[in-house]
Amino acid sequence: MKQKLVVFTGAGISAESGIKTFRDSGGLWEEFDINEVATPQAWEKNQALVLDFYNKRRKQVLEAQPNNAHTALVELEQKYDVQIITQNIDDLHERAGSKKVLHLHGEITKSRSSIDDSLIYRIKGEEIRLGDKCEKGSQLRPHIVWFGEMVPMMDVANIIAEKADIFIVVGTSMAVYPAAGLIDYSPDGIPKYLIDPSDVNVNGIANLKVIKEKASIGLPKLASELLK
Ligand code: OAD
Repeated sequence: MKQKLVVFTGAGISAESGIKTFRDSGGLWEEFDINEVATPQAWEKNQALVLDFYNKRRKQVLEAQPNNAHTALVELEQKYDVQIITQNIDDLHERAGSKKVLHLHGEITKSRSSIDDSLIYRIKGEEIRLGDKCEKGSQLRPHIVWFGEMVPMMDVANIIAEKADIFIVVGTSMAVYPAAGLIDYSPDGIPKYLIDPSDVNVNGIANLKVIKEKASIGLPKLASELLK
């Protein structure tokens, strides 16, 4: 049986595809106020503004292409049972060809009913507009986990992490919980790698090898080592 390789990704893996990260200098949360666009309160206050913010994000994602880092994770499937757990709302892992991708923070290509969480739709075209409704008649919202909301896939993700034989973290500031706590669920004794060009605060993680490089450089290198 193949070894289970769990890969936890964040905005940094898609940075070189031209999608802005959140907390780097020039990142999205410098330009936009989280409280105005990414909370249930923001949605209550100004649906048009929230829809516009995510419509712009969606347009950027649709124009972007997967990069070397996404592709390296596909190549690892030759030898490993690769499970990606991503905080990203883009679909670049899927478009690169990765088979198992779990989205913790939702998906920009989908919309959801604002009264029934189980009604999720693939968005046709680039936008959700005011007046676009679910089959129960409520305004469609982006299928995104906002600040202050539960992370419904977290328990599933933690169970996957517990079964990892190797754990790789790529391109996340590890600033947002509960997602950032995922690595704590991985077994102590297994090899762990962190790829990020900046210093990330990961104190107290055993067997962690830090690769201080951009994802498009660091991940293909690590992949070729792991494929030997
Ligand atoms: P952040 O913007 O917080 O962190 C991005 C990380 O990527 C930083 O550690 C950067 O150093 C790193 N980085 C930048 N360029 C890179 C590159 N070329 N290669 C590799 N790494 C690079 O993004 P996340 O940690 O993903 O949530 O943010 C977590 C969550 O906060 C997001 O899922 C989003 C956001 O608010 C929601 O939207 C719910």
